[in-house]
Amino acid sequence: MTNQILNSTNKKPFHVAIIMDGNGRWANKQNKPRFFGHRAGAENLRSIVESCPQLGITTLTAYAFSSDNWGRPRQEVKMLMRLFNTYLQTEIKNLIKNGVKLTFLGRRDRFDTNILSKMENAEHATADGAILNLRLAVDYSARDMIIEAVKKLGTVELTRKSFSNALAKAQHSDPGALDVDLLIRTGGEKRLSDFLLWECAYAELFFSPVMWPEFNPEYLQSAVDDFKHRERRFGCIPKKMVG
Ligand code: FPP
Repeated sequence: MTNQILNSTNKKPFHVAIIMDGNGRWANKQNKPRFFGHRAGAENLRSIVESCPQLGITTLTAYAFSSDNWGRPRQEVKMLMRLFNTYLQTEIKNLIKNGVKLTFLGRRDRFDTNILSKMENAEHATADGAILNLRLAVDYSARDMIIEAVKKLGTVELTRKSFSNALAKAQHSDPGALDVDLLIRTGGEKRLSDFLLWECAYAELFFSPVMWPEFNPEYLQSAVDDFKHRERRFGCIPKKMVG
């Protein structure tokens, strides 16, 4: 614990997670279809990713499609999948150029084989990226991932460490990249929506009223600046407050 408090004096958020909310409302405000907002959202993700290294962010986990999103109107789901497919085709070169390693968190058994093989190719092609670890949560539900992790544990003794390792395996992620330092949700709502429930145990939370397509790198910078002024205690009391 003491180590964690000491580490908290290093004020940069290393692992930032983002709930990219507000695409639909942003589009509606301009009398445009919701898809217009999702497309602008995907473009915005690119500029946010590019701004991470200079802010000291080494891992970015972004919520691109929740397992509950399958319940949206068929047409919207189809368009989101098409957008994801295009993203996988168009972004990879750029990610490689910028040293970004792309991985995916979540279930993999419900995507069509074309998307799935593009996801695997993207992971393979960007595997050497050493500047930013970009994790896209797709068909992701934290509660489902927790259940899958418990199943994976089998007869292994249940501890925080063994569970974390099982969770990483269940969601195909790197066990070293689990704990979130700063969780940002755009779009004005203040909830977690089944995102990274285990990993956010001690995350600092930042809720922005700005809709995702407009959440530019300057807004990310303000969230990071706000984080720098937080005192992270991890349930302990700093020495100066004892007595
Ligand atoms: C929430 O906005 C956003 C989503 C459900 C999808 C997030 C997707 C993107 C940012 C673009 C796609 C990303 C990739 C990588 C292709 P919402 O539709 O719930 O907005 P609303 O709350 O205003 O209705």
